[in-house]
Amino acid sequence: MAKLKKVSAEIVRPLRHKVLRPSLPFESSIMELDDHDYTFHFCVEEESRIISVASAYHESFVELPKKDAYRLRGMATEPSEQGKGYGKMVLKGVIDYLTKETQSEILWCNARTTAFEFYEKMGFTIVGDEFDIPNLGPHKKGFINL
Ligand SMILES: CC(C)(COP(=O)(O)OP(=O)(O)OC[C@H]1O[C@@H](n2cnc3c(N)ncnc32)[C@H](O)[C@@H]1OP(=O)(O)O)[C@@H](O)C(=O)NCCC(=O)NCCS
Repeated sequence: MAKLKKVSAEIVRPLRHKVLRPSLPFESSIMELDDHDYTFHFCVEEESRIISVASAYHESFVELPKKDAYRLRGMATEPSEQGKGYGKMVLKGVIDYLTKETQSEILWCNARTTAFEFYEKMGFTIVGDEFDIPNLGPHKKGFINL
C-alpha cells in the first residue's frame, strides 16, 4: 500500500531529477536550501519505491509579501504512476503539515503550464503573466491559502 512519508532531501532527489530535470546534470536537482531547518520533503512510497515527491521551502511570495509563506518545489510523480492520485497524496501531505506545524498562510509555486490543471484541482489559483524558466519551459505563479 502506498504510504506518505516525511523524508530527507537525499530521498526525493533521484525522482526530482528524473522527472523534472532529466536533461540536466544530477546536481541541478540539489536545491540550495534543501537541508535548511525550515525546509521539508515528503514522498509517497510503495514497496520501497519512491513514486511521488514534493518539497517546501520557507520563502515569501512576491504577490503577497506581507504573508508568511512556503514555496512548493520539486513536485513530481514517477511517469508510469502519474494520474493515479499519488501527486495529490503527496501535495496534500505538504499542505496538511504546513497547516498543523507552521503559522504560514500561503503555499506558492512556479507552476509549469502543463501542470496548471493539477494545481487548480488541488485548490491553487494561477496568477500573473507567463514567464519562461530556462531549460524548464513556460510557467505561471500559483498559490493556495492555508
Ligand atoms: C503534475 C504531477 C506532479 C501530478 O502528479 P500525479 O500523481 O500525476 O497527479 P494525480 O494523479 O494525483 O492527479 C490529481 C488530479 O490532477 C489531474 N492531473 C494530474 N496531472 C495533470 C496534468 N498534467 N494535466 C491535467 N490534469 C492533471 C489528475 O487527472 C487528477 O484529477 P482527478 O482528481 O479529477 O482524477 C505529475 O503529473 C508530474 O510529475 N508531471 C511532470 C512533472 C511536473 O510537471 N511537475 C510539476 C512541475 S511545476
